[in-house]
Amino acid sequence: MAKMAASMVESKDDQFRKIFKFYKRRNPPPDYSDVIDFSKAVPSDKIVAAKLEPAEVSDVEAESVGLQPVRDWRAFGLKDYPGFLFISNPFLRGSQAFWARQCLKTYTLKPNVCNLDMHMSPSDTQDIWSKSVHELSAAPSGKREPKTLLERLRWVTLGYHYNWDTKTYSADHHTSLPADLYLLSLRITAACGFPGFNAEAGILNYYRPDSSLGIHVDESELDHSKPLLSLSFGQSAIFLLGGICRQDAPTAMYMHSGDMMLMTGQSRLLYHAVPRIVPAPQGEAALEREGVSLKVGSVLEPVSEEDWLLCSSYIQSSRVNVTVRQVLGPGQSFPDTQSAHQRTDAGQLVGYHEDKVVGNHDDQSGKRMRSSSWDSGQT
Ligand code: SIN
Repeated sequence: MAKMAASMVESKDDQFRKIFKFYKRRNPPPDYSDVIDFSKAVPSDKIVAAKLEPAEVSDVEAESVGLQPVRDWRAFGLKDYPGFLFISNPFLRGSQAFWARQCLKTYTLKPNVCNLDMHMSPSDTQDIWSKSVHELSAAPSGKREPKTLLERLRWVTLGYHYNWDTKTYSADHHTSLPADLYLLSLRITAACGFPGFNAEAGILNYYRPDSSLGIHVDESELDHSKPLLSLSFGQSAIFLLGGICRQDAPTAMYMHSGDMMLMTGQSRLLYHAVPRIVPAPQGEAALEREGVSLKVGSVLEPVSEEDWLLCSSYIQSSRVNVTVRQVLGPGQSFPDTQSAHQRTDAGQLVGYHEDKVVGNHDDQSGKRMRSSSWDSGQT
């Protein structure tokens, strides 16, 4: 009884949950008038222009990862959130197509780990992209059943593979982080005043139109002095940034394709969530392939017509978010007990029902976890 009363008080005071449910609501749809749109933002009583470090990244270095010169980036902070940084799509025209293709075709390859590994063999999940192209081209017109692997993909982990059960990383489940993503992260973080960022882990979340990501804090990294970097491609999302407790009402903002966020300093451990995917602004294709001219030294490669067809059809209704993390501080290592007891490999990540799991979900404490149900009632 006391427990029930406590949980009633908790949910009444849980402003984050209330606002999460407001934006997740389908019928009637929510009023978006309070959602900050940084693509149109000017400094105001809430929004401040953020200072970047253009001297840290040359124009050639920026271009080699598909970014505009840093002096042209539109970067903002929020007055009530010191350490939070939002960069409104700093990608060069045409270059997002390459990064979206990497997220869908390359980073989904083994040895990276994905939700489909929970109940499929590595040989079945080893080339999600090619299998999906094949399934799509073999499909008769009309409704296809079952869904392609790409449509069933919900998450991929890179580098130190995050263990959703123990909510830890460990020394003995590590594969190398893709070099192109490492370099992109290095350039962005340097431009934002964090030189020497060592990208060690990545989590990709794949959102379908009805997906959401539960309320959580990213605290499993051992060094919180390093930023959490977030990049998005495809359809837009409503992102909620809260406080250090669930009673703090979150601020809602759009995250459009190409937008970036850094959670650093006092904002590194704030609650956040994605209650809703929304279509990209009207008249703006979420991504385009044309416009990029690749120079010697660029990590970007041309996206073939065939790749672009699948990529653009996926992205027409979906969103991919990549968060990049430095797990260990300089000279830091995992505690012995952790690496000995919390080995994570795909075979051990059991108990998830991929057809139900769409986003990450928070437990009572809001730590990042996976649930077998993804209804917002869980959060
Ligand atoms: C997002 O999808 O924008 C957020 C991802 C995360 O918090 O892990």
